[in-house]
Amino acid sequence: MKILVTGGLGFIGSHTVVELVNAGYEPVIVDDLSNSDPKILDQIAKIIGYKPVFHKLDLCNEHSVKELAVNEPDIEGIIHFAAYKAVGESVQKPLKYYRNNFYSLINLLEAYHGKALNFVFSSSCTVYGQPEQLPVTEAAPVQSAQSPYGNTKQIAEEILQDMIASGSDYKVVSLRYFNPVGAHDSALIGELPIGVPQNLVPFITQTAIGKRQKITVFGDDYNTPDGSCVRDYIHVVDLAKAHVAALKLMQKDNFKGYDVFNIGTGNGTTVLQIIHAFERATGVKLNYEIGPRRGGDVEQVWGDVTKSTNKLGWKAKLGIDDMMSSAWEWEKYISQNPL
Ligand code: WQD
Repeated sequence: MKILVTGGLGFIGSHTVVELVNAGYEPVIVDDLSNSDPKILDQIAKIIGYKPVFHKLDLCNEHSVKELAVNEPDIEGIIHFAAYKAVGESVQKPLKYYRNNFYSLINLLEAYHGKALNFVFSSSCTVYGQPEQLPVTEAAPVQSAQSPYGNTKQIAEEILQDMIASGSDYKVVSLRYFNPVGAHDSALIGELPIGVPQNLVPFITQTAIGKRQKITVFGDDYNTPDGSCVRDYIHVVDLAKAHVAALKLMQKDNFKGYDVFNIGTGNGTTVLQIIHAFERATGVKLNYEIGPRRGGDVEQVWGDVTKSTNKLGWKAKLGIDDMMSSAWEWEKYISQNPL
């Protein structure tokens, strides 16, 4: 069964391509290379034993997407990762984010309408903002305007639901990711931030390898166990497997329309706990200091994963130590073997 994976050379996309092959699917990768490296295709090949089909394509170009649907007609499922995802940049350049994230989604849905029935959408816990209740369930209200990036995820979910409500024969599952970290245990693929990492774990690994001087903990005066923010960190391989589970769910005859699932571990971990977990798991001492809060950060968020366990039939298996050690192995690999 051929599955179209947009953004398939990115961090989560590449790990999902590997898990699709492990589950017996045939991935077809589409990526515009705006935030990924074409050599990741070779890295994937080292893991799965062959180079998957890859189309370099701007999904915002309606003509190109229609051409793709002609050239790749027997696609039976789509996993849509391709989107801009930097929270801070989205505040500086909102129109860039709205254009890219909505044009690509709508072009794809229209080009494959009536052809590729099963559609997995890459959403984010950022739609919850700061939840009233924790752990946060899928029934919690979705906030808006914490960032244009978060808005694009929330509005995209609404576009998908409206499309289903209009009588479309698509089946759609939105997966709300918490914080994806770590790397494949081969250390051949992992997170490849461009420039200075915005996210915590790549900043930690780059500090540990000596590329960065020190880590700044953005605030330790929050109302949390040690004052630093709480997040639900999930191993990227567990996250990748959740996409396979979503495809399998939609292949069942009793699945109709639209559903949404939290993809996290159900556990909250503070920034300082992550730093100490990294030091324990790798034996590398980290240089960090406490700095001011970062604008836009929510104080604490972690997921209720009951629905994912019971209905999606998926549960995260890997713990914080695996996340930290795999991230470190990848950092060492990529610093010795630049792509
Ligand atoms: C985690 C915690 C920071 C860096 C964002 C998006 C989310 C998803 C993941 C796309 C926070 C703290 C960070 C540093 C720090 N992205 N931190 N020093 O902001 O929870 O989530 O990235 O899908 O949608 O919202 O992740 O890794 O940036 O931050 O103290 O140098 O680490 O304040 O508390 P975040 P993050």
